Amino acid sequence: MPDASVKAMFEWTADYEVGVRQIDGEHRRLFALAETLYQAMTAGKGKAVLQDHLAALLDYTCYHFKHEEQLMERIAYPGYRQHRQDHENLRSTVRAMADRSASGETTMTIEVMLFLMEWLKRHIAGSDRLIGDRMKTEPT
Ligand SMILES: [Fe+2]
Repeated sequence: MPDASVKAMFEWTADYEVGVRQIDGEHRRLFALAETLYQAMTAGKGKAVLQDHLAALLDYTCYHFKHEEQLMERIAYPGYRQHRQDHENLRSTVRAMADRSASGETTMTIEVMLFLMEWLKRHIAGSDRLIGDRMKTEPT
């Protein structure tokens, strides 16, 4: 149960909506997973717990990227290659950071979380929104 006295760090708002139900739902879940990790940190949970939450967040990020990539393929999205490349770059950067945090540097867990969420917020507001816009204008 999150501590109500601790302010939420990662709150999904309608500003992040891209207008595709599945993608919006998965983005919400990403924010929720990051928030769970953040709350565990502020509650002073141990390294193993934090690592588990971080792993869940990273796994879900990869799972979600796959869905977005499948969707882009399905609608023959013109920006597909670049968008997939952006996902790939993020995946490898974050995996490398997570490996370092697993090998003992606890502050890296915080760094990975902040880096990932900043990246996702920018990516959702920019690139992912364009997929939503495309789906609104293209007949399917
Ligand atoms: Fe994306």
